[in-house]
Amino acid sequence: MAKEHERIVILTGAGISAESGLGTFRDKHGLWARYRIEDVATPEAYARDPARVHAFYNMRRAEAATVEPNLAHAALARLVAEHPGRVTLVTQNVDGLHEAAGATPIHMHGRLAGALCHGCGHRWEASLVMAPEDPCPACGRAMTRPDVVWFGEMPYHMETILEALAEATLFAAIGTSGQVYPAAGFVEEARLAGAHTVEINLDRSDVAHVFDRHLIGPASETVPAWVEELLA
Ligand code: APR
Repeated sequence: MAKEHERIVILTGAGISAESGLGTFRDKHGLWARYRIEDVATPEAYARDPARVHAFYNMRRAEAATVEPNLAHAALARLVAEHPGRVTLVTQNVDGLHEAAGATPIHMHGRLAGALCHGCGHRWEASLVMAPEDPCPACGRAMTRPDVVWFGEMPYHMETILEALAEATLFAAIGTSGQVYPAAGFVEEARLAGAHTVEINLDRSDVAHVFDRHLIGPASETVPAWVEELLA
């Protein structure tokens, strides 16, 4: 990256993992075309039928265990490694592919690999298959849930993310449809901070008009090229 003072904030969405073989949410055959959010991704769904919610996340955990990071994940891990402390990687994804590529993103929607006790708030590493009757290792209550953020819940680490956006000189959104807030509003926060903004996507997102620049194409091609440009 030419300018040493660059402070880069990168937001990723399901599109960065599409070429690894994981479905996105809102594409034609996406997850929300096959499951109803109100059945599997809200606190009310969990209260109503925890076994159904666990089955949905057990399926997603099993899927995520079969895929590998792609060239886009690897390129971002290289960028973070070459400029530690100046790149903030935020992901909406819960699939663990950024860590598998060697990066440590801020997981604003939690992690499939994480388990949370709905009763005492204890967190631990989930087993591949979780069930409602699994006792919490801390309090023993059978109120375990996946440590992911559901619709209607506050995303994690928002203070840290907003602090990074307030100092950003460059903001990139990669593989996200810009339909879910607060993540879809991060580009506005970055613009307010005076950052240059880039959208990297297969096509234009719902908030494409807000971005200064668009790199259209599959992430496994566009992201490595963009990182090369930054590291030149
Ligand atoms: N390369 C780049 N972008 C891609 C690719 C690809 N190979 N394939 C798909 N995309 C783009 C799509 O064009 C779309 O804009 O990725 C985006 C995926 O959008 P969504 O399916 O809505 O996923 P995302 O934006 O991450 O959803 C946000 O919604 O359901 C919640 O919690 C869930 O974190 C998720 C949030």
